Amino acid sequence: MTLPLKIGIAGLGTVGAGVVKLLAEHGALLSLRGGRPLKLVAVSARSRTKKRDIDLGKVRWEKNALALATASDIDVVVELIGGSGGIARQLVQTALRSGKHVVTANKALLAMHGAEIAALAERRGRILAFEAAVAGGIPVIKALREGLVGNRVRRLYGILNGTCNYILTTMRETGRDFGIVLAEAQAAGYAEADPRFDVDGIDAAHKLAVLTGAAFGAKVNFPGIHVEGIRRVTSMDIQFAEELGYRIKLLGLARETKYGIEQRVHPCMVPADAPIAHIEGVFNAVVIDGDFVGTTMFQGRGAGQGPTASAVVADLVDVARGRHMPAFVVPAARLADRPASPMDRHAGAYYMRLMVQDRPGVIAAVSGILAKERISLESMLQRGRSQAGQVPVVLTTHETEEARMQRAVTRIAKLKAVAEAPCIIRIESL
Ligand SMILES: NC(=O)c1ccc[n+]([C@@H]2O[C@H](COP(=O)([O-])OP(=O)(O)OC[C@H]3O[C@@H](n4cnc5c(N)ncnc54)[C@H](OP(=O)(O)O)[C@@H]3O)[C@@H](O)[C@H]2O)c1
Repeated sequence: MTLPLKIGIAGLGTVGAGVVKLLAEHGALLSLRGGRPLKLVAVSARSRTKKRDIDLGKVRWEKNALALATASDIDVVVELIGGSGGIARQLVQTALRSGKHVVTANKALLAMHGAEIAALAERRGRILAFEAAVAGGIPVIKALREGLVGNRVRRLYGILNGTCNYILTTMRETGRDFGIVLAEAQAAGYAEADPRFDVDGIDAAHKLAVLTGAAFGAKVNFPGIHVEGIRRVTSMDIQFAEELGYRIKLLGLARETKYGIEQRVHPCMVPADAPIAHIEGVFNAVVIDGDFVGTTMFQGRGAGQGPTASAVVADLVDVARGRHMPAFVVPAARLADRPASPMDRHAGAYYMRLMVQDRPGVIAAVSGILAKERISLESMLQRGRSQAGQVPVVLTTHETEEARMQRAVTRIAKLKAVAEAPCIIRIESL
């Protein structure tokens, strides 16, 4: 008789409860696919009395989640508490040290301590798996570890935060501004009460850090990411983007440059006919450019109970089968310590929107500053008179260096006729 894989789950929130449901509903199928039963033995969460809509009748309750890490009847600990430190980190480390395999959805933890935890797993000969941590239900870590493993990744990019994508999509569809759409998204449950992690780009950066590590065989480097959120994107910019043939998306992008690995998260203008421009609402997508395979795109739901549980259970089936792969595709001891390519060195085209006093000479002054930095213009749009005497002027540039653009923006912002800080959005040629 085959021994079951004995599972302990810490955290019974959105993801944890989903995993309990999936294990119960697909028990027979998972036994076949995993080669043995996947048996939930024990769980832990903060409150034992909370109503959760899951059946925990035959499952042991551990008051302290750390007890799962040392329990003799558990083979794999599933960490679904969250947070980059504290109990989640302690649980993962203790579990690996006690010889348990670990499955987690915790991108914050991996972004901060991924290399160290992968090294610990390897030293202990245990599996560390985290499919659910990046792009929820989309099996992109598996794609890098398995289907695309023969390729050198040239670059990758993706829509990694469903909340931001929902807000940007709704702003485009309704013409409403960021603050209003965010408030509606919060009321509808698409955005957290404290939206900072999402709208300021941090959640997307956590995922990008993990993805980059797996794609480029490098140590996860979260501090090396240039991060900007979507708060400064206005419905006016979205409208101008449409006129220019673009859509605005919050992307996470990574590629190797001669200076190191460039990782950035910020709003981007993407060509309206690029496939990623059509990933709308809460959906996520990841595009991976491999040297032999070419461009591949994965899309699906990046969050939510079902999709995330689907990814966690995929990892559990791997553990049941004893599929032992390095967490970041190459052995942890061989992960490269690559420097972050400085953002100043980034080269690309730019969109700049200025709000200017409608008086002669402004355009000449702006053009003069750009010329001094050897930034050449691709196009310029100017709108008619507004009642307040301010008009938007939109410029797009040919490829230039970020440092030049930033110097020019600083000088342009100081012009008397420029009413507010210029809005800059990078244009990506995908
Ligand atoms: N939600 C998603 O769609 C999604 C997608 C991808 C990845 N993730 C990641 O998955 C993880 C879990 O997210 P979630 O959305 O399921 O979070 P959540 O709904 O807030 O659930 C967190 C769970 O952790 C429990 N918990 C908190 N402190 C604890 C402690 N000291 N000991 C034991 N349990 C404790 C909570 O207990 P109580 O229920 O008793 O309060 C709750 O059950 C996070 O790392 C998150 O980033 C989530």
